[in-house]
Amino acid sequence: MIIAIDGPAGAGKSTISKLVASKLNFQYIDTGAMYRGVTLKFLRLNIQPDRVSEKITELQTEIQMDGERIFLDGEDVSQEIRSIEINQAVSAYSAIPAVRLFLVELQRAMAVDQNILVDGRDIGTYVFPKAELKIFLTANVEVRAKRRFLEMQEKGESVSFEEIVSNIESRDRIDSQREMAPLKKADDAIEIDTSAMNIAEVVNRILSLYEMKQREGLNR
Ligand code: CDP
Repeated sequence: MIIAIDGPAGAGKSTISKLVASKLNFQYIDTGAMYRGVTLKFLRLNIQPDRVSEKITELQTEIQMDGERIFLDGEDVSQEIRSIEINQAVSAYSAIPAVRLFLVELQRAMAVDQNILVDGRDIGTYVFPKAELKIFLTANVEVRAKRRFLEMQEKGESVSFEEIVSNIESRDRIDSQREMAPLKKADDAIEIDTSAMNIAEVVNRILSLYEMKQREGLNR
């Protein structure tokens, strides 16, 4: 079974996804981490988005996902991909079709023969259009920025609230306006606005939607 959780930046996808996946004993796949990892690699190679070739031959990198961790050629970059620099660059690299095709192939390969919960922007619309349960998580931009601000403060990153608002707005714009597989709610996704919900409420809502789907499946 596949559960797809999509939504804009800072809607709480990864926090919620990790909890739901562990409750259901599903493998969690954080596709945002994969786009962040590729971005880190291009930044290290000093290759600008407009210099990425169609075959992305520049990116000779093995990407491995292990739950919440991501490895580039064996190096654990799980912390580094959450930096402000990556936040600022990731949407531009993610809009490149060759980058997306490369990562989507990896994502589909990970789904073989296991129950997975996948979070991202295009999971229900493009990567797994047949996912059995699709959730679209949203929240207003102030709430999303506040959550991200607290997260960054906890990590000791010095960044202002205004910078976070502007980064979230600009990523949402690029992500939803790109040509290939833009951020968009799938027609059959269930939207949950988390602006006024706490983590446990969102997790419970998804778990009850999952149970409903299970029952529907059994009654078919
Ligand atoms: O955690 P947050 O919502 O801030 O972002 P993320 O899920 O880590 O994703 C980072 C960026 O990767 C997004 O802003 C998109 O540009 C890109 N992304 C994408 O294009 N497609 C996905 N399936 C997942 C992420």
